[in-house]
Amino acid sequence: MELRHLRYYVTIVEEQSFTKAAEKLYIAQPPLSRQIQNLEAELGIQLLERGSRPLKTTEAGQFFYQHAVKLLSNAEEIKSMTQRVGMQEKTFRMGFVGSLLFGLLSKIVYLFRLQHPHLKVEWIELSTAEQIAALKAGRIDVGFGRLRISDPAIRRVLLREEPMMVAVQSSHPLAKQSHGVNLVDIVHEKQFLYPSTAKPNFSTQIRHLYSEYGLDPKNLVEVREVQLAVGMVAAGEGICIVPDSAKTIQLPHLHYLPLLDDRAVSPIFMVTRNMDDTEHIRAIFDCVYQVYDLEGIPYQRVEFLNAPSY
Ligand code: BEZ
Repeated sequence: MELRHLRYYVTIVEEQSFTKAAEKLYIAQPPLSRQIQNLEAELGIQLLERGSRPLKTTEAGQFFYQHAVKLLSNAEEIKSMTQRVGMQEKTFRMGFVGSLLFGLLSKIVYLFRLQHPHLKVEWIELSTAEQIAALKAGRIDVGFGRLRISDPAIRRVLLREEPMMVAVQSSHPLAKQSHGVNLVDIVHEKQFLYPSTAKPNFSTQIRHLYSEYGLDPKNLVEVREVQLAVGMVAAGEGICIVPDSAKTIQLPHLHYLPLLDDRAVSPIFMVTRNMDDTEHIRAIFDCVYQVYDLEGIPYQRVEFLNAPSY
């Protein structure tokens, strides 16, 4: 006797008709009748009064019906509880580069948590290159970074291009240029680059930016992280190029000026394993756009499935 037999029997009793039960169960009537005959044969008793219209149960059939209903409802409960336990145990892991913390990353993760309360979310700081390796090894499910690193096993989607700013101390002559500065205005300044982790990283991007404009800054000092760089700037030690979102780091005498050159933007990419179209991947992608909408950030929506890489 299988659960399927119980489901058939309960439907027949409730519909009081083989024909109606067969329609409801999406099966033909002859196999349904055979299943009930098999069930009665296995039990060695008759469950339904033969020839009754509408169909009636025997006394044993009524007893069997009541217990079958209970058993089916228990089976449903087990199914949904197991699914819930499975959902609670699922962990979704995200890699991110540190500089994204100053921007929208925390809002995106918070929204994702709100919309997926049963999912355990872990986020791990990793360089873009480390994210690619972690995705391939299955250690993370999604990564957010700033570098255009390609890999045949990885899908990379450009989310947006963040403008860049220049951090200066309030007494610096450039601080008066509140409308902004160009790279050519700052190339000879002492400036801090970060991070000092393995290359390529954000400092590599800044070096490339200068060389794209044929400029060769000579006075570059690499420091461990952005907080240190802007701290040095606030102390009057030099200047520093940062993504717009770093403006959330506020210190006395620290000014941020727009960097006006067209190519002075820092892209933000989302990376996943190729062909990974699972529900949570789509959901995190959707959260990014919901936050952009809330913040009034312009973007070009890219359909994630089979999205082209940029
Ligand atoms: C953003 O600032 O656009 C961003 C930050 C983290 C993840 C995704 C997007």
